[in-house]
Amino acid sequence: MGRHKIAWLPGDGIGTEVLEAARTVLDASGLEADYMPGDIGWNMWLKEGNTLPERTVELLKRSDCAFFGAVTSKPPADAMRELPARFRGKGIKYSSALIRIRQQFDLFTCLRPCKAYPGNPGNLKEGTDIVIFRENTEGIYCGAEWGRVPQEFFSVRGMERVSPNAAVSIRAITRRASQNIARAAFEHAEMHGRKKVTAVHKANVLRATDGLFLEAVRQIAQEHPKIKLEQMYIDNCCLQLVLDPLKFDIILTTNLFGDILSDLCAGLVGGLGFAPSANIGQKWALFEPAHGSAPDIAGKGIANPIAAILSAAMMADWLVEKTLALNIEAAVAAVIKEGKVRTPDMGGKSKTMDMGRAVAEKVHR
Ligand code: NAI
Ligand code: MG
Repeated sequence: MGRHKIAWLPGDGIGTEVLEAARTVLDASGLEADYMPGDIGWNMWLKEGNTLPERTVELLKRSDCAFFGAVTSKPPADAMRELPARFRGKGIKYSSALIRIRQQFDLFTCLRPCKAYPGNPGNLKEGTDIVIFRENTEGIYCGAEWGRVPQEFFSVRGMERVSPNAAVSIRAITRRASQNIARAAFEHAEMHGRKKVTAVHKANVLRATDGLFLEAVRQIAQEHPKIKLEQMYIDNCCLQLVLDPLKFDIILTTNLFGDILSDLCAGLVGGLGFAPSANIGQKWALFEPAHGSAPDIAGKGIANPIAAILSAAMMADWLVEKTLALNIEAAVAAVIKEGKVRTPDMGGKSKTMDMGRAVAEKVHR
């Protein structure tokens, strides 16, 4: 394979800081790549009234994949209030750049590993090793809010019409997207020697939507008889994860449940500083730490870059640079085990770039 073309999207807050550290590691790893920087996020909202400028979309289309830091996003009313005056009255609407990319590029798989690396002081239970497959394009995040609400919804609640006192989100589930995410989970299980997929849902209440999700999952499960399919309600799943995370192998779920469960699972293994992620479509993918822009620590150079570095390893794996991916992960594991470099979230005093350099040094050897 020739040089990889990677769109490089630092974004806002600690996104830029952890990407600098990840880049140090990627450079040390010997990955042959051209990094093409792109503008995205809150800073673009303030400068250009658009969180995802068209030139960035074009850049993404020219790339093999993207590497993304984090963006600050705000509720639309707050965002509109902060929109500079020169953009007012032009019909500009606020939307989150990342959700737009996931939907526009149909990145239906969100893959989030949660692994307790030995020596990590934040591990709640040694041996935790869970991979979450979260549907990434629909569910309650499908973007259908407010407008297309059936009148019955309001009449049964004694309300006359759509009013400022009622709001509705639509939870859209399709067989196609459910099958796609299920296939990704079962194929991952087979390729990586995993034994069980736990489908997490609330089909007793969300009968139509999670009923369809489960039906699609069972269909795909039949094509993979060696992998066990387990079904669990979301509330029980939260309980079981906290009581005994070792019972879990792969978790397969819809968009919102996956969003919440991935933070919960990150908490089992040291926090968001240890939670990498991949957003994968048919031919293109975006890799990012699962955390946000962390305004509470941004600008201090103390964010933990391990989530970003592990995301870089996932990117190398997706680019079929398997050895390189394993090297990066092994370097992270070694630095954690040694315990000499620890960022504040690990109880230490090291800086983001101390961690970046420590991992880079081990990748090198
Ligand atoms: P967050 O993930 O930015 O931070 C949550 C907590 O975890 C904070 O206390 C933060 O300091 C800590 N944290 C996160 N990453 C860390 C790291 N690498 N090292 C050490 N500590 C870390 O979530 P929050 O505070 O809810 O949201 C902040 C902003 O980020 C919001 O504007 C939100 O919309 C946005 N966001 C963006 C995401 C993305 O770009 N993928 C994902 C989640 C939130
Ligand atoms: Mg989240």
